[in-house]
Amino acid sequence: MGYKGFPLASLVFNIVLFLRTMNFAYGDISFSIPEEMKRGSVIGNIAKDVGLDVSRLSSRKGRIDTEGNSKRYCDINLSNGDLIVAERIDREALCGKKPSCVLKLELVLENPLELHRITLHIQDINDNSPLFKNYIIKMEIRESTIKGARFSLDEAHDADIGENGVKAYTLERNDNFVLNVETKSGGRKYCELVLEKELDRENEQEMNVLLTALDGGFPQRSGTVVIQVTVLDANDNAPVFSQAVYKARLLENSPIDTVVVTVSATDADQGVNGEVRYELDHIADKNSNMFSLDQKTGDVKVNGPIDYEEESSYEIRISAKDGLGLASYSTLMIDITDVNDNEPVIYLKSLNDPIPENVSPGTEVGIINVQDADSEHNRQVRCSIQQNVPFKLVPSIKNYYSLVTTGQLDRELVSEYNLTITATDEGSPPLSSSKTVQLSVADVNDNPPVFEEQSYSAYVTENNKPGSTLCSVTARDPDWRQNGTVIYSLLPGEVNGAPVSSYLSVNGDTGVIHAVRSFDYEQFRSFKVHVMARDNGSPPFSNNVTVCVFITDVNDNSPQILYPAPEGNSFMTELIPKAAHGGSLVSKVIAVDADSGQNAWLSYHIVKSTDPGLFIIGLHSGEIRTQREISESDSMKQNLIVAVKDNGQPPLSATCAMYLLISDNLAEVPELKDMSYDEGNSKLTFYLIIALVSVSTFFLTFIIVILGVRFCRRRKPRLLFDGAVAIPSAYLPPNYAEVDGTGTLRSTYNYDAYLTTGSRTSDFKFVRSYNDNTLPADQILRKSPTDFADVFGELEGSPEVGH
Ligand SMILES: *[C@@H]1O[C@H](CO)[C@@H](O)[C@H](O)[C@H]1NC(C)=O
Ligand SMILES: *[C@@H]1O[C@H](CO)[C@@H](O)[C@H](O)[C@H]1NC(C)=O
Ligand SMILES: *[C@@H]1O[C@H](CO)[C@@H](O)[C@H](O)[C@H]1NC(C)=O
Repeated sequence: MGYKGFPLASLVFNIVLFLRTMNFAYGDISFSIPEEMKRGSVIGNIAKDVGLDVSRLSSRKGRIDTEGNSKRYCDINLSNGDLIVAERIDREALCGKKPSCVLKLELVLENPLELHRITLHIQDINDNSPLFKNYIIKMEIRESTIKGARFSLDEAHDADIGENGVKAYTLERNDNFVLNVETKSGGRKYCELVLEKELDRENEQEMNVLLTALDGGFPQRSGTVVIQVTVLDANDNAPVFSQAVYKARLLENSPIDTVVVTVSATDADQGVNGEVRYELDHIADKNSNMFSLDQKTGDVKVNGPIDYEEESSYEIRISAKDGLGLASYSTLMIDITDVNDNEPVIYLKSLNDPIPENVSPGTEVGIINVQDADSEHNRQVRCSIQQNVPFKLVPSIKNYYSLVTTGQLDRELVSEYNLTITATDEGSPPLSSSKTVQLSVADVNDNPPVFEEQSYSAYVTENNKPGSTLCSVTARDPDWRQNGTVIYSLLPGEVNGAPVSSYLSVNGDTGVIHAVRSFDYEQFRSFKVHVMARDNGSPPFSNNVTVCVFITDVNDNSPQILYPAPEGNSFMTELIPKAAHGGSLVSKVIAVDADSGQNAWLSYHIVKSTDPGLFIIGLHSGEIRTQREISESDSMKQNLIVAVKDNGQPPLSATCAMYLLISDNLAEVPELKDMSYDEGNSKLTFYLIIALVSVSTFFLTFIIVILGVRFCRRRKPRLLFDGAVAIPSAYLPPNYAEVDGTGTLRSTYNYDAYLTTGSRTSDFKFVRSYNDNTLPADQILRKSPTDFADVFGELEGSPEVGH
């Protein structure tokens, strides 16, 4: 180091040293000087030491030579003989570590040549500080290093020697190290760091400690170095989880890779020692794949199907390990939150199928159980059944429901129910499911057969063939199979005194009614039978219906002439008074027809007459009238042939002869006897007259009685009877049927018959005849069943037969 900064004290010390060395110099001139004297400083007066005259120095060319060294450290002041410092003298540069440093000079004088050796002892001064090789000493010490470990430190060097060299080291106060200084042979000191307290990298990763080296000079100099201790990590820390227990909630059905929770553990160590690896520690086997744990990030993720119904919570131990296997553990508790992911399931526990249709309302027909695998309100289930069916669900114990009828069942209306039972849970959103229960209703024989019509009418033309089909009846029974199978039969009864079975038969399966015999309209026109329809149930139900059979007329009877009597009764002769005016009624042809309607609508024609201009016959009345006044020239005897024709298709007819006598007195007729026939014939006529009179009397009485009765009951203007002679009903053919409203004659009152019983003067008086009830020729016989019903209404029961 330089001397420029020498303090004053140092200078004083050097002068003292210089004075002392002067005392021991002899022979050769010797000086002892401190190094680093200023240039020009006087070392000593050589002239005086050698005994030279100063004034001669110049002339003798006095000079200083340095031995073998070109550098001139000293010079001589020729004016006074002083040896002065010419160049900086650095002991360290000249001598290094040599304990003594001697600079040899020569004083050369010429004329005569004279040599004086000058020895310069260069004294060390403390001009150098101890010096470390580097400014910083870097050390790396593992934190696991045990107490007492020593670490050698670099020495400090001091260019000075002796006392001025490195004398001591001191270490800055610190927590971990102390300094141990040892002296080697040769007095060199070296030092080492001794670990007094273990290092903790986690506490202090790096520490700087100042090491100071001191020399023994005065003033003391020092040099420092920073010891930089880097604490190397040791795996002395296990990872530490941030929580002892991690709790997480997770919705069930969370998708794969959902992050459930992130665990984290920290390891205070460094590098690989602090690298934390997370691991799932132990999970029950079946769940081993449910979660994954990211080794690095600590993310716990879903790895499998999370099903609350399978497992509602998981407890998993997780570990965190550092690079060298130090581990710590934590617990991961995952609670699964239920999601409404299970729809209710409906179980049909029992079902009475089929149920008879006659069960009373409130009958239990089935039991239903509903289950939902979810929990809490997700498993609360409400159950319902569709509207408009006569069933309801009645909640029973727990999740059981009874299926109960609410009304009367009717198989004939609804034979099968598809009941849809819907179960809905109370989750959000709710889930529901439904089940269809097929329920059939079993038949009970609860319906009688019912005929399609209230009554049936059959029309059959008379003279039908036996076995011909009249009509068919149909009854329906909506019940099932044999309960609805209809069997037809005739109810026993009588028609006209004979069992119905002799008239009709019915096909038990089809209901077709056949005639068993041929019917005669003139015998009876209608009759009623009852047909029963019975089902095959047990017990059976039955119903019956009336079948009215109407026999329709066929023109199978020719007109029958009642009056005049058939040919040969000659005394049936009409007397015509000579004074008869034109248009007077002289006689009447009376005919009947057993048929009815058009078939019985008679028309009268004169087909042959004695005097064609004299008489005319009413087309439908049969009344014979004079057409003009009778004159004297007219023949007394007049004969007419009258044809009576019905209106049937084809028409049938009959003829008769009418004998008319124009006379005022029967006695006047001499030819009358001629006109009479044989004795037996007149005898017969006589009896006949007696019979006629008696019968007529009886008949009249009868008529009067009848009329009286009728008048009392109702006034019926049609039913007039003016007391004229009526034809006894005995004259009517026994099979002459009479039906009111059919257009046929009514035997009781329609007719006035004019009989030649002697009252020649009696005039004809006619009731407002049968014409009202007889159809006009241009009308067609048209009847409706109701007309017949009326008939039956009036003539209750038995078929009407002729009087
Ligand atoms: C009930 O369901 C069955 C089968 O689905 C079907 O054949 C039947 O017609 C249904 N019955 C009613 C009354 O809807
Ligand atoms: C008919 O009805 C009866 C009860 O009246 C019942 O027992 C029977 O099963 C029914 N028959 C059929 C074929 O349904
Ligand atoms: C026929 O039916 C009537 C009423 O419909 C009933 O009163 C009568 O008893 C039945 N006759 C028979 C024999 O079943």
